[in-house]
Amino acid sequence: MKDLLDWIEARIPMMRVANMHALQYPAPKNMNIWYVFGFLATIVLVNQIVTGIWLTMNYVPTSEGAFASVEYIMRDVDYGWLLRYMHSTGASAFFVVVYLHMMRGMMYGSYQKPRELLWVFGMFIYLALMAEAFMGYLLPWGQMSYWGAQVIISLFGAIPVIGDDITLWIRGDYVISGATLNRFFALHVIALPLVIVILVFLHIVALHEVGSNNPDGIDVKRPKGSLSEDEKTKFKIHEYYTNKKDILDDVVPFFPHIVLKDLVAFAIFCIGFAYVLFFMPEMGGFFLEPPNFETANPMKTPEHIAPVWYFTPFYAILRAVPDKLGGVILMFAAIVMLALLPWLDRCKVRSVRYRSTLHKLNLAQFAVSFVILGYLGVKPATVIYTYMSQFFSFTYFLFFGALWLYSKNEKCKPLPERITK
Ligand code: HEM
Repeated sequence: MKDLLDWIEARIPMMRVANMHALQYPAPKNMNIWYVFGFLATIVLVNQIVTGIWLTMNYVPTSEGAFASVEYIMRDVDYGWLLRYMHSTGASAFFVVVYLHMMRGMMYGSYQKPRELLWVFGMFIYLALMAEAFMGYLLPWGQMSYWGAQVIISLFGAIPVIGDDITLWIRGDYVISGATLNRFFALHVIALPLVIVILVFLHIVALHEVGSNNPDGIDVKRPKGSLSEDEKTKFKIHEYYTNKKDILDDVVPFFPHIVLKDLVAFAIFCIGFAYVLFFMPEMGGFFLEPPNFETANPMKTPEHIAPVWYFTPFYAILRAVPDKLGGVILMFAAIVMLALLPWLDRCKVRSVRYRSTLHKLNLAQFAVSFVILGYLGVKPATVIYTYMSQFFSFTYFLFFGALWLYSKNEKCKPLPERITK
């Protein structure tokens, strides 16, 4: 057996990669609960791909057959209801864990030097995820699928000069039709998942090149890329550092220490996920909206069109501006601002633990504004809700502007020499 493993290892470096990037990956020992969401996002990604493949086995991507095929999956396919709810609940779970994952990055300054590219890859993943969710929502061909897509695609029409041509190009028709459904299906089941998987791979490569940040936001002592090929294969951080004990005060091998923490998180996540799956798969209309149980009807507009909850903060920003083009620009700016965080934040200290009270308050108000905008995005655009959307859009952008201004000369607490608990 050993000979066989050595033979394989000499041809494909399985153990070397497993040791360097998983088993013996030097993880900061103070990683807390906020550090489980990357792992959970990976789990949800696998869930979406596996359940998606099985749904595709019975789904019919035509405007005549789509709605009925989803009903067929729900009623007649063995465990089809489970597959569909795992996929639809998984979509929402994805955004829950990704939003928490991003919040962690913002709290501990994980986007700061040298992790800028890691953050930017994350933002590309986030964009691809939004496109993936949006296209998936058209597939059941329900009323909200149809009219939601109608609203979002028509936004491109606000672009001067070429807007109309772009909407036509996206739809593949003068109205949303079977042609649109067909191309969204192709993009949803193969193109975008491929892009997301590649981006996640690059995200992890970039992470392991610079090493994980931690709740203290200070650099930990970690191995430099100076191992020989043989050492890499047999890499054991405890043995490697027997003479450099101080480093081991900062990092622990990923296996078993972090794996065990992640498994606890996984168990808790599964309980929550199963609860939603079995007891409230529609989540009161937030995960699957009621109009979507009615087949798409181009002649009948639903009374109130709202996107699924994970898009609503940006939808509220869009609606806060009376002018369509202005709204579209502001909505995209809201995402671009997030991507620019590594350059907007000019503070040398990463973690919120050691930053000024002003920064703590600013970050807290950003999180609150984001959640309230999310709430406003599902509400009808009445006068009072529109004023509120305008106010919280302002506080959303205020976070970035204020951060840029105060971060340069921010008064921070002294950083610890070594990482704390
Ligand atoms: C499919 C979605 C994603 C997956 C599967 C994923 C996966 C991971 C994993 C496994 C880690 C290491 C474990 C951890 O620190 O939690 C990580 C770290 C990180 N991710 Fe993601 N990620 C995703 C999306 C994002 C997004 C949208 C962003 C931000 C825009 C982001 C930013 C980061 C950062 C900054 C780190 C390093 C954190 C640190 O070391 O403190 N990720 N990601």
